[in-house]
Amino acid sequence: MMRANQSNWDARTPIHAASAFYGLDGSRSPFDWFAAFEWADLGDLAGRDVLHLQCHLGTETLAFAHQGARTWGLDLSGRSVEEARRIAQRAGLTVTYVQANVYDAVQAVRGQRFDVVYTGKGALCYLPDLPRWASVVSDLLRPGGLLYVVEFHPLFSSLGPKPPRGAGPELLLRNDYLEGRGALERGGAHTYTDGPALQDAPVAYEWAHGLGEVVTAVAGAGLRITALRESELLPWPRWERMERTDTGWWRLPEADPRIPLLYGLRASKPE
Ligand SMILES: C[S@@+](CC[C@H](N)C(=O)[O-])C[C@H]1O[C@@H](n2cnc3c(N)ncnc32)[C@H](O)[C@@H]1O
Repeated sequence: MMRANQSNWDARTPIHAASAFYGLDGSRSPFDWFAAFEWADLGDLAGRDVLHLQCHLGTETLAFAHQGARTWGLDLSGRSVEEARRIAQRAGLTVTYVQANVYDAVQAVRGQRFDVVYTGKGALCYLPDLPRWASVVSDLLRPGGLLYVVEFHPLFSSLGPKPPRGAGPELLLRNDYLEGRGALERGGAHTYTDGPALQDAPVAYEWAHGLGEVVTAVAGAGLRITALRESELLPWPRWERMERTDTGWWRLPEADPRIPLLYGLRASKPE
C-alpha cells in the first residue's frame, strides 16, 4: 500500500505542479496555506531548525524558509521532492529536501534533530500506524521541541453530500470518523486539483484517524499537548456551497451549524 501511495503521489506531482490550485506560477503565496492561529502557535521561527514531514511540493515548507528557519522537508514521493527542490531554487530559498517514508525519517535525516516538526493538511490519512508515527516524531525533536499538526478534521473527512454531488446541499455522514477498519482504497482518474487525468497509478490508500486517536498517539509518545484548536475554516472550498471569508479561507454558510473542518494540535517534548 505504501508503494501504491508513492506511485500515486509521483503521478500526481506534475499535475499539481502545473495546477491553478497550487498556484506555483506565483498566483499563490506559501502563506496562503496557513491559518493565523498557526503562526501564533508556532511563534518566531527565525534561526530554528524546522522539519516539514510529508511536504509534497513544499508549498508550505517555503513559508518557514521565508521566516528565516533552517528548513527541511521530507516526502515519500521522489518526484515531489525533485519538484520541491526546483521550486525552492526558483524562489531563491534554501531548503534541504529528503525523499523518505515518514517511518524511516530518523535514519533519513542522519542524526539531525529539530526545534519544530510540522505536518498536516492531508498527511496523517496516509499513515496506518499513528503511535509509531508519534514515536518517530518524538525521536526527531530536541528536548523542548515542538510538534505542530494541522490536519483536516476527522469530522470533515467523514462528511459528504447526499444524495451524490450536485443533487442536494445536505452534508451527511458518509465515511468513518474513527479508525480501525483498515485501509480505504481511493481510486479515480482525477486528483483533487484542476488539471488532466492521472496517467498511471490512480489508486491510493488512506486510513481514518479520530481526534482522540491522534491525541492519544501523541501523548503516548511522551509529548505534552499544549493546544488543540478546532476551526470552521478551510484553505479551499471543499464543497460547492462554501463561502469565502475575508481571510481568504472558506467556511460553510453562516446559517449552518458551526462544525470543525480543520484542527491544529501543538505538543512539546519535555526538556
Ligand atoms: C496532501 S500532501 C500534504 C502536503 C501539503 N499539505 C499539501 O497539500 O501539499 C500529502 C503528501 O504526503 C506524502 N506521503 C504519503 N505517505 C507518506 C509516507 N508514508 N511518508 C512520507 N510522505 C508520505 C505524499 O507523497 C504527499 O506528497
